[in-house]
Amino acid sequence: MTTEQAAMSLAGEDRVALITGASRGIGLATARLLVRRGYRIVITARQESDLARAVADLRALHPGVSSYAGDCADPGVVNDLIRSIQRDFGRLDVVVNNAGGSHHASDFAALSPEDWDQTLRQNLKSAVMVTQVALPLLKATGSASIVNVSSKAGRHRTDMAACDYVAAKAGLIGFTRQLAQELGPCGIRVNCVAPGITVTARVEQRWDQRPERIRAQVIAGIPLGRFARPEEIAAAIVFLASDEASYITGATLDVNGGAFMG
Ligand SMILES: NC(=O)c1ccc[n+]([C@@H]2O[C@H](COP(=O)([O-])OP(=O)(O)OC[C@H]3O[C@@H](n4cnc5c(N)ncnc54)[C@H](OP(=O)(O)O)[C@@H]3O)[C@@H](O)[C@H]2O)c1
Repeated sequence: MTTEQAAMSLAGEDRVALITGASRGIGLATARLLVRRGYRIVITARQESDLARAVADLRALHPGVSSYAGDCADPGVVNDLIRSIQRDFGRLDVVVNNAGGSHHASDFAALSPEDWDQTLRQNLKSAVMVTQVALPLLKATGSASIVNVSSKAGRHRTDMAACDYVAAKAGLIGFTRQLAQELGPCGIRVNCVAPGITVTARVEQRWDQRPERIRAQVIAGIPLGRFARPEEIAAAIVFLASDEASYITGATLDVNGGAFMG
């Protein structure tokens, strides 16, 4: 392969990427970076107004941006989403399973069955379902890539969330490994990014509510002495999605300022 060919293969060209949960935060930063690399993209989120704002932002960079509003843990929504990608683009090269989040930091004893269902559904089942329904389209490309967004919480421990979130994010890492083994022979790479605390609006709001003592402790535990910017997590996701990572599969990339060194 010449240098020129190699450079071309790093770019998105006519490739299509689906990013779930991309109306803000890490997902939106990832969508921006993929668009800049020349990918045509499809972004999802549940709130239509936020999604419309994100689409306007992204279309200022590139016209090849579509959106789909709905809960990506809902089988009906996921089926319609993938059908619309098949109809509108006829291909799918990259899936970024980013949708997720933690909504409380309760003690284990306080977690209800509904808390567990909601958190596992939003952070684990959504990724499983999107991946499974997208599989025939991904297989058809011959060299597709899936990136799951886990968390440092799934690799180690956290002061910012509860057992349900930690279990869901650890589950996503196991899912990544096993799926990478299964899909490698089909030319599909499956990897994971495990971000440390990243300054998005959702996290900033929860951080402000933490006691000063805990805040000082958390920052002291990060060798780089600060939280991540969404763009720094996006760079790792896009790297794993791209041909630059063509021999990497089943990996979990820690992007946490050194807070956890696996
Ligand atoms: N920020 C951090 O410190 C951090 C650290 C480690 C890992 N992570 C992980 O990184 C990912 C992104 O986090 P973030 O901080 O960027 O979150 P965020 O700012 O809250 O954005 C989450 C995005 O996902 C969408 N979303 C959530 N649930 C969804 C669902 N069921 N179906 C479709 N869309 C859904 C949200 O839009 P709607 O609400 O409109 O659906 C929004 O677009 C999450 O998986 C999170 O667990 C974040």
